[in-house]
Amino acid sequence: MTSPARTSVVTAPVQTSETPVAGEEAAATDSGPVAITIDGLGKRYGTGPLVLEDINLSIEAGQFVCLLGASGCGKSTLLNIIAGLEKPTEGAVTVASGKAAVMFQDAALFPWLTAGRNVELALKLRGVPRKERRREALELLDLVNLADAAEKRPHELSGGMRQRVALARSLAQDRKVLLMDEPFAALDAITRDLLHEELERVWRQTGRTIVFVTHNVREAARLGQRILLMSSRPGRIVNEWTITDTGSRRIESPEVARLGDEITDQLRKEIRRNAA
Ligand SMILES: Nc1ncnc2c1ncn2[C@@H]1O[C@H](COP(=O)(O)OP(=O)(O)OP(=O)(O)O)[C@@H](O)[C@H]1O
Ligand SMILES: [Mg+2]
Repeated sequence: MTSPARTSVVTAPVQTSETPVAGEEAAATDSGPVAITIDGLGKRYGTGPLVLEDINLSIEAGQFVCLLGASGCGKSTLLNIIAGLEKPTEGAVTVASGKAAVMFQDAALFPWLTAGRNVELALKLRGVPRKERRREALELLDLVNLADAAEKRPHELSGGMRQRVALARSLAQDRKVLLMDEPFAALDAITRDLLHEELERVWRQTGRTIVFVTHNVREAARLGQRILLMSSRPGRIVNEWTITDTGSRRIESPEVARLGDEITDQLRKEIRRNAA
């Protein structure tokens, strides 16, 4: 018999640079090495308004962090800065392991290559010798439950399968940090639910540090060990939740619903405050 999901939640107060949040207090005592450090980060595009303001974060290696906020609040901007695809205007970001792998909402696979070859290409770019690529690509496809689809081209795959190939390809880059920008947003609820399970399993199996961007509260409550809520205009981290026991969580479990409701309340307040 499986035990019921136990999801303990620690809610942290609004983060400011002077007051460390609960997660950081814990980090000082029982945390492992830090994977990502963000220090006084600010961003504006050209002469436009401030998009991100004074973001300070320390993400532990192996942590699953969900970045949640309303559309346009700067989630993708923050992720792209961590990925090194955008430059900060102020402050600094350090990824301890060097470059991170990124996975976007749109799988963007090469349509003329099979699923296997799409993954192999990432291995080639990493410098994996030709004779090892095939085997490694199949292992990665197997990890995302797609071993049977290695010879299929993207148009022969469903949206969910394409996102799994994209996940395998991100893993092929063999970076310790995986940045995911709404990777399941275009999928139906049931497929998304299935991919949440797969992603959680892959995360536990590979020990990656994951930063997962979403504007779906339930998705964040289902997946995150730590959920960071962003405000809009400018984007700042305004609240955070740490889930101490994430075992056997499911999207329909009461714990996820309760946490989702609490986060939604906060998100609504943020949106109202912003509209005022
Ligand atoms: N390359 C760019 N040049 C100018 N402004 C940009 C650029 N990219 C994003 N912005 C602006 O920065 C703000 C934040 O955008 P961003 O894409 O980071 O938001 P988001 O939280 O990811 O939104 P969504 O949930 O809709 O994906 C928006 O006002 C957007 O118009
Ligand atoms: Mg975005």
